[in-house]
Amino acid sequence: MAKRQQAVGLYFEERGKGLPVVLLHGFPFSHHIWRAQIDALTDSFRIIAPDLRGHGQSPAPLGTYDMDLMASDVCALLDDLGIERAAWAGHSLGGYVLMAALRRHPRYVRGAALVATHPLPDSPDKRLQRMQSAEVVLSQGPADLALSMMAVLFAPKFDRQSPAAQAIYEMMTATPALGVAGALRGMAGRPDSVETLRQIVVPAVVIAGVEDQIVKLEVAEEMARSMPGAELVTIAGAGHMPMIEQPEATTAVLREFLRTLPRR
Ligand code: MLT
Repeated sequence: MAKRQQAVGLYFEERGKGLPVVLLHGFPFSHHIWRAQIDALTDSFRIIAPDLRGHGQSPAPLGTYDMDLMASDVCALLDDLGIERAAWAGHSLGGYVLMAALRRHPRYVRGAALVATHPLPDSPDKRLQRMQSAEVVLSQGPADLALSMMAVLFAPKFDRQSPAAQAIYEMMTATPALGVAGALRGMAGRPDSVETLRQIVVPAVVIAGVEDQIVKLEVAEEMARSMPGAELVTIAGAGHMPMIEQPEATTAVLREFLRTLPRR
């Protein structure tokens, strides 16, 4: 097992009893994206929903948040809670963090749900764009980035004026500039995780919004095919935010997956 990096203490919500389940949000959100799933799954599971470093109420130190560092934060939280192994569900950036945990600290992962995420590194163009975006956010704040993300986060028919969509916009604009920049730089440098997923030995499910404009369905399908024993579940009427756009369907898939995992 790899040596863990210096972790920060993450803010987290913890509810329920039973199999520990870590819910990791995407970029640049907070654990609140999982509200519907936390409320529903807490009847059968011990839900731990942290804010990743730089997001929500967690510390936002200056620097580059590489994926291993973010995974170390989550493992340190599990250590603090006395949890040896948990099921992890990672949305988008949260999925990249989960892949880093599978690569570097696999003993913490009992099962993996990969939600609207993928294992590929950034292209050189995308990397450059992220590094430039980090500079813009540091000088002007995250409002422009949040607006541009609003255009692609949801399925085309999802009402962007709905309270749920507006809450997502507010979550993004509330993310500290240092946190947004740190995560952008970390994502720009993230490694290829294809081989990590090919070698996965824990039960896994891939959850994909059929209308995801950020992680195309074909990419999710290819990822699921490459993972031994992984199931692909597609969510109709959802884009990149299935937990918000189709909360019941997303909860049902997670519940079904978690139900099958060994308790110990
Ligand atoms: C996310 O939702 O976490 C982001 O779309 C991930 C990314 O920018 O690669």
